[in-house]
Amino acid sequence: MFKPQFMTKYMLFILIITLIPLAGCKQDSAKKIDKDELVYPQNKKLISDKAMVVSAHPLASKVGMDILRKGGNAIDAAIAVQFALGVTYPVAGNIGGGGFMVIRMNDGTTAALDYREKAPLAAFRDMYLDSLGNVVPRLSLDGHLAVGVPGTVDGMVKAFEKYSQLKDWKQLVKPSWDLAKDGILLTKREANGLNRNKDKFEKFNTSQPVFIKENGEWAKGEKLVQSDLARTYELIHNKGRAGFYEGEVADELVAEMKAGNGIITHEDLKEYEAQWRTPIVSQYKNYEVISMSPPSSGGIALTQMLGMVENYPIKDWGFHSPQTIHVMAEAERRAFADRAKHLGDPDFYEVPVKELMDKNYLKERMANFNPNAATPSDSIQAGVLTKESDQTTHFSIIDADGNAVSVTTTLNTGYGSKVVVSGAGFFLNNEMDDLSAKVGVPNVFGLVGEEANAIEPGKRMLSSMTPTIATKDGKLNMVIGTPGGSTIITSVFQVFLNVSEFGMGMSEAVNAPRFHHQWLPDQIFTETDAFPAETVTALEKLGHKVGVRGSGKIGRFEGILVMPDGKLEGGADIRGDDSAAGY
Ligand code: GLY
Repeated sequence: MFKPQFMTKYMLFILIITLIPLAGCKQDSAKKIDKDELVYPQNKKLISDKAMVVSAHPLASKVGMDILRKGGNAIDAAIAVQFALGVTYPVAGNIGGGGFMVIRMNDGTTAALDYREKAPLAAFRDMYLDSLGNVVPRLSLDGHLAVGVPGTVDGMVKAFEKYSQLKDWKQLVKPSWDLAKDGILLTKREANGLNRNKDKFEKFNTSQPVFIKENGEWAKGEKLVQSDLARTYELIHNKGRAGFYEGEVADELVAEMKAGNGIITHEDLKEYEAQWRTPIVSQYKNYEVISMSPPSSGGIALTQMLGMVENYPIKDWGFHSPQTIHVMAEAERRAFADRAKHLGDPDFYEVPVKELMDKNYLKERMANFNPNAATPSDSIQAGVLTKESDQTTHFSIIDADGNAVSVTTTLNTGYGSKVVVSGAGFFLNNEMDDLSAKVGVPNVFGLVGEEANAIEPGKRMLSSMTPTIATKDGKLNMVIGTPGGSTIITSVFQVFLNVSEFGMGMSEAVNAPRFHHQWLPDQIFTETDAFPAETVTALEKLGHKVGVRGSGKIGRFEGILVMPDGKLEGGADIRGDDSAAGY
């Protein structure tokens, strides 16, 4: 039961986190938010002078801001936020998953860190097929066999070693250790998410995780103490990489696998290494767009979509006019068709990066674009988008020196495989579903794949995550990204254009309604009430099928815009508990 005395202790804390991020900032908080839902105050639009952190949870944003105030740079703050989300946002924040970090330092140098999960060494191509060669439903999504080798902790260590300004690992992990030990108050969304998944937690765990509420349901404002996770964070705090990939936590993870017929071994953990990749850099008019390289499809697909619409006067056509939506949907359709065929882990498959991004190729790709009619997708295999929550998470950071970090990190779907490592207290991902279980059979996001993304031992699964940084006329301009499975790429595409073409500020751009086309299934998916009825009719006349996406929402975006006067505008998505902090 919810105990009112928890609130007494936390009133002061809430007051502090309300006031600290606002010192020196202008806020326009929670305009469209049901105030009754708030446990921690959320800044949906925040203007700050120097530095900004925007993430999916107010406490995580505060942790990042505290690190910046203590002299950490954007990378230090990003490491601290990644760990904090692993406590405050269990649905997607993680140490049992992976992600991508795109960096632009104030001297203009860029970097891309790949801490994506890998298929275990014992994985094999047909591991999700039955004796008749059919995909066994949900085997790559629920339970121990769905888990890829986690990359988050090694990713944070690599980022720290190369870029930390604070040079104090312990300072970056300690706030999260404390949050796990002392407890967090559940937001209404998180309480609902845990309650909704209770049956699955019971079914797929070998012992009772702390996320299962005995005798009833979690309530908004109730305190969640994660003692096992606190001990795991203590080990990571004291030992760095070895605190996770070796010793007690590694033993517990491998024991969990054995108990649940999973296949991750000590060898998998020992050999996991995050990789520095060359970021995808492209030009859109006077913007330079820096985004994530394979094994994410995000950077390439975003480049393709922007390249395909660049020569059309969408600014004149107007935001969400039928013509604009039509050309954007056609670009999305073509980019997703390329994604299915050509993209995969570059360590296993030669991805034709240059060719896919070539401006002439992109022009050619639009040669059969008909302004008066939709181009039907080749319907060899129609995918079905699911209502499953696609709970990846994103955070954007700019520090006072103008260094920028864009991170998207995930367990894949909400709470990943639903498996919590017994004794270690963290959810494991279900990222194996992002590999192609069988050619042409859609995954949970309705995405199809071929050879490039077939299952192989040690292979990283193709991702849609699109952490992105943009410069304008050579100066830092935007740090953007979002969760949303396959809709990640199209959401980043749209928010970028909302700012660059349609003149919106970041908060307006983030909160504008969104739509999505991914080639297969051949349909424009929208948010609830995204378009007026006459726009839907106009698109249908062009031959598009238009329908509301399962959940009625697309993504939870976190963006920062450098305004002409040099101040920063943080835009945190009204679709979640997302919040900006700045100074
Ligand atoms: N798991 C979602 C993605 O990486 O695209």
